[in-house]
Parts: sequence; C-alpha cells; structure tokens
Amino acid sequence: MAESTDQPLLAVRGARKEFPGVLALADASFDLRPGEVHALVGENGAGKSTLIKLLTGVHPSDGGNIELFGEPSTVTSPIEAQRLGLATIYQEFTLVPGMTVRENLWLGREHTTRGFTSAPWERRSAAALFERLGVKIDPDSTVRSLPVSHQQLVEIGRALLSDARILIMDEPTASLSPHEVTQLFAILRDLREQGLGILFISHRLEEVFALADRVTVLRDGNSVGSWPTSDLTREQLIEHMVGRPLDQEFPKVAAEIGEAALEVRQLRGGHSPTEVGNSFTVRAGEVVGLFGLVGSGRTELARLIAGADRIQNGEVRVDGEAVQIRSPRDAIRAGICLLSEDRKAEGLVLNLPSVQNFALPSLSKWSRSGWLNEKAERAAFLKFVDAIHIRISDPEQPAGHLSGGNQQKLLIARWLEVDTRVILFDEPTRGIDVGAKAEIYQLINELAARGKAILMISSELPEVLGMADRILVMHEGRISGQLMNNEALSQQDVMQLAVA
Ligand SMILES: Nc1ncnc2c1ncn2[C@@H]1O[C@H](COP(=O)(O)OP(=O)(O)OP(=O)(O)O)[C@@H](O)[C@H]1O
Ligand SMILES: [Mg+2]
Repeated sequence: MAESTDQPLLAVRGARKEFPGVLALADASFDLRPGEVHALVGENGAGKSTLIKLLTGVHPSDGGNIELFGEPSTVTSPIEAQRLGLATIYQEFTLVPGMTVRENLWLGREHTTRGFTSAPWERRSAAALFERLGVKIDPDSTVRSLPVSHQQLVEIGRALLSDARILIMDEPTASLSPHEVTQLFAILRDLREQGLGILFISHRLEEVFALADRVTVLRDGNSVGSWPTSDLTREQLIEHMVGRPLDQEFPKVAAEIGEAALEVRQLRGGHSPTEVGNSFTVRAGEVVGLFGLVGSGRTELARLIAGADRIQNGEVRVDGEAVQIRSPRDAIRAGICLLSEDRKAEGLVLNLPSVQNFALPSLSKWSRSGWLNEKAERAAFLKFVDAIHIRISDPEQPAGHLSGGNQQKLLIARWLEVDTRVILFDEPTRGIDVGAKAEIYQLINELAARGKAILMISSELPEVLGMADRILVMHEGRISGQLMNNEALSQQDVMQLAVA
C-alpha cells in the first residue's frame, strides 16, 4: 500500500453544513489516523452527527474539504461510503424491525453459495459474532422483539462484519450495559491494533478517557481543537465543550420529604417471565434512584406502574389510595407519568412541529370549547426551551430535525408540563451533554421541591449517587436492596447489590 503510517485515513478541513434556518456546521476540522480511536465530543446540537453524515454522504456538504485515504473524497451516498471501507453506526437505528437479526446483519450483502443465500452459514457466523460480543441473541428472532440494548448490539455487529478500514460510531454505548460496553471496548481495541481508524461519539466522558487516544471538541458547529486525551483533565474537556467551567456536575439540593406518594406492592405482569419488583415506597419530595444492570427489570417495573404493560397481580397506591391501572391513561389520571427511555417508542411525531409534540398530552390545558390557545401553548413551550436550553431554530421546527439530545429534552419538557404527582424517569439523561445534564438535575430538584415523588431509573452510578436520596437496586426482576444515600456510600456498594 502506498500510504505511510502517519498519513491520515480521513482529513476534514473547514466542513460546513446549513439546513434551512440552521447553521449545523460552520467550520469543523479534524483528522483520523490509522490505529487510533478518535473521540468526537460536544454539546447536544454541536454538529457531531451532522459531521458524520457529511463523511458518509447522507447529506451533501456546503463547504470545506474531505480527504479519504489521501484523496479528495468522492462519497455521495452511505452505500458508497460502505463500499469504500467506512462502516457506520448512526445515532438513529437503521435496522429493519420486521426482519430477523440474521437478515439485518447481511442486508445488502447476503452471503450466497451458487446464487442462494446461505442461511446456515450466516447463522453460524452470527452466533460467533455474538459470542465475541458476549451476548446471547438468537439470529432468527425479529429485531422488533429485541430489547433496545440488543438492537444496538446488532447494529454494532453489522458494522463489525464489514471489512472496513474506518469505523464510525455515533453514541454506540448509550443503551448498553456495563458488561456489554466492556466487551465492545475490547473489540474496538483489537481493531485499533489491526490499524483501523475509529471515530467514536459519546456523551460519557469516562468512556472517552478510557478508550480514545485523541479527542476533538465541537462547539456550535466549530471545532475547538484536537488533543491527546492524556493531555486533558475531565474538567478541561468539559470547559472546551461548554465554553466555560461547569460549577457542579450534580447540583443536588435535598427537598423536604413528606408522606408516601407512591406505594408499590408485589407487582407482577408484563412481558417479563420473571416476577417484577417487590414492594417499595417513594415519598413526596423524594428522589429515589432505581439502579440495576440492563435487563434487571427496571424498565418492566416502570412500565407496569405506568400502565404501559398489563398488571397481573399486586397493588399501586397514590397518596394512600389504591388505584386501578389498566392503561397509560389510567396512570396519568392517577397522577403517574413515565418518561420512557426509548424516544422513538415514546412517540415523538417526527414530522410534526416541536411545539405540537410538546403539547400533545397536555392539550386540554390550552383548549376551551374546541379552541386551542396557540399563544399560551407556545409560551409554555418557550419557557422550557429557555430553562433546559432546547436548541431549536423555531418552535415550528419539526421534531425530527432536532439533534438526538434535543429530542430527549423535548420529551422531558412534554411530561413536565403535564402536572403529575409521581414521575418515573427512565434514563433521563441518556444522550444528553454534561452541561444540559446539570440543567435537568436542577429541574429534578425543582420538582422534588414542589413535593413530587420521583423514581429515577439510571444505569449511571455517578448520577444515582449524585442525585438520589435513597437507592433501590434491582437484580433479576427483584429489588435486592435499599440504601440510604450519603457521603460514605460508594459505587462498589451499589454495584455489589446489582450483581449479587
Ligand atoms: N435534517 C435536519 N434538518 C434541519 N436541521 C437539522 C437536521 N439535522 C440536524 N439539524 C440541526 O443541526 C444542528 C446540529 O445537529 P446534530 O444532530 O449534528 O447535533 P449533535 O452534535 O449530533 O447533537 P446530539 O449530541 O444531541 O446528538 C442542530 O441544531 C439540529 O437541530
Ligand atoms: Mg447526534
């Protein structure tokens, strides 16, 4: 091969991209060398995903140069990018939900013998792949039937199967368990050894420091700089991202804790074959963290309480009164709402204006005898846009045009507007940048101060330890322990209960 080892695989100079009314990228530059993991970080809406979509030909660029393997890039479509050796995992899932895992893995490049797709061969290869990823996934199950984390692993698997020289991953770990992340990182380190260049986007700065050799920071569509990760402290990196030092990552304020607002007793039901939950209480003004590994049953439990799945047995009480929950509507009427971990299933209507997406469940607030007070609706929305900095060019901007993290903020605003007694947050800050996380924590503080009962499901131990008054730990469908949160409590204390 003609190239020398220090020639970058990919070099981007002054990339620019404009969408109607939005300058997504102004002037972004970086390069990716063979044998390095290069992290791309920045706040929600900074332009990370857009930059990747320029590289892989999803969008045409409006300026700048991209060189691929030392030549001006000719990529004009994702298929071509793949053919030229760029394997990409986009932030949005690209799997076909109705097809099987195996079909998805080889979509567009079926393995054939004498013109026939070789299913047994593909099945064996899939099994080997998932073994390497340390996960049990049946190649013949449909993608739709898999939990989010397994769908993500199929996406990752598909990229690993292609003989790429460049691997691009847009927040691949957002829905993975710690174990799955460890396996993935081991594989990525192997690929780095083999000389691949890996471009890696994540909002989890621990991962950036654990995995990446270099990091490029984007802010407001501009690249701020590229550094070896070993030259930066966490605080310095945050400062480059946010543009100012961040006072506090977890601005916890303890609220006055009152009577039991939510009581849950011996719930069973849902899709999970195991029993879900035992009994617990969340008091008014209290933030209870629900920690557990992915698959431990936390989401199932929340879905039962929120009426998303059918309760077979057990009892839910709100403010001391037993409530019948057969649907999400029943739950909302009883004062319980669930902020789901899955933005897509939660039902953002991507082509509807953001403000309408925001107002969907609280419409009755602004309508009187069939008339909608759009001004009030808009004002309520703009209040949140301000409070949690939803990056939006106009309230009418379609929800599908917001960056991933801003879609999440839009959903949070939606449910905060519905005034409920109990809020179940399932991974509230997944995919959210560090500055905005602190803003969401402040909102959680405010809700607690207003006497709401908050159950916060989280896979992030620092978040649980930083924000919860009390911690419940789930293991295999049951609550395996309860801990009062205080200074003395360590990550290990909590983790022990989660794996025990
Ligand atoms: N198809 C589109 N049409 C209009 N605007 C868009 C489109 N895609 C992205 N944008 C806008 O471009 C800006 C950059 O978005 P991008 O998705 O690149 O951010 P990001 O850095 O990936 O953020 P996140 O961390 O939230 O995923 C945002 O303001 C976003 O609203
Ligand atoms: Mg993005």
